[in-house]
Amino acid sequence: MSIPTLDASGKVVVVTGGSKGLGRAMALGFAEAGADVVVASRKLEPCEAVAREIRAMGRRALAVSCHVGDWEQCAALVDATVAEFGRIDVLVNNAGIAPVPPSLVDVTADLFDKTIAVNLKGPLRLTALAAQHMRAGGSIINISSKASLHPTPFTVVYAAAKAGLNALTKAAANEFGPRGIRVNAIVCGTFHTDSLHASIPTEELQAQMASNVGLGRIATADEIVGTALYLASNASSYLTGELITLDGG
Ligand SMILES: NC(=O)c1ccc[n+]([C@@H]2O[C@H](COP(=O)([O-])OP(=O)(O)OC[C@H]3O[C@@H](n4cnc5c(N)ncnc54)[C@H](OP(=O)(O)O)[C@@H]3O)[C@@H](O)[C@H]2O)c1
Repeated sequence: MSIPTLDASGKVVVVTGGSKGLGRAMALGFAEAGADVVVASRKLEPCEAVAREIRAMGRRALAVSCHVGDWEQCAALVDATVAEFGRIDVLVNNAGIAPVPPSLVDVTADLFDKTIAVNLKGPLRLTALAAQHMRAGGSIINISSKASLHPTPFTVVYAAAKAGLNALTKAAANEFGPRGIRVNAIVCGTFHTDSLHASIPTEELQAQMASNVGLGRIATADEIVGTALYLASNASSYLTGELITLDGG
């Protein structure tokens, strides 16, 4: 028996929201592990910047502008990936937004639609489309949130969207399991990224949040990479439909 590794050499990996935060960390991490990477988000230039970093590592990279809530743009992302690389081995549904309404009654139709579109509608369509270009061994990784398991009045729409993403994870795992394609979610606790700093801006509030974490600190963005590499690799070959909580305890 050979010992499984996290090596991603020769894999084609698509990361949505790959221009910054957790997505950028995973895009660079997969490239470091040997993968070719498609970096997608709405703004092209930040994706190009990450793609340049990946090419500097000697890997291939493609930057694509894609609003994941728009299904035509989801199709264009998959088409561009297949045109460039011929297939998809790993899809990371990472793009997400978490607008915070002051209360339930302040949730507008626009906020509801946008939050569901980016966190759930896009991942559903991309999962369906990308799986058509995957072989046995393919892996889909959904980036969920602990808010999906512990919703508050402020996170109600975001939490519902991520709970939907958890359900999508299990449904797609059942659908694609017979083809050898695995689907799992990383249920994230708190990570230092722009979106966290926008919603929890002061060091005092961040320290308060860290005090509720078993390890006593908020994670750095690159601490998601090991779990993503694991879920993409044959080290997790019998793991599917699973929600892995990554929250520092
Ligand atoms: N940070 C945390 O503590 C935390 C906790 C739990 C879960 N998460 C989840 O982790 C994921 C990444 O979060 P993050 O903190 O790294 O966020 P971030 O730093 O705000 O980055 C978000 C990324 O998503 C892209 N994006 C936003 N809207 C998009 C859209 N409509 N279509 C395509 N791309 C879009 C952004 O680029 P553009 O602006 O160019 O589109 C950016 O690349 C999200 O799903 C989030 O819900 C994060």
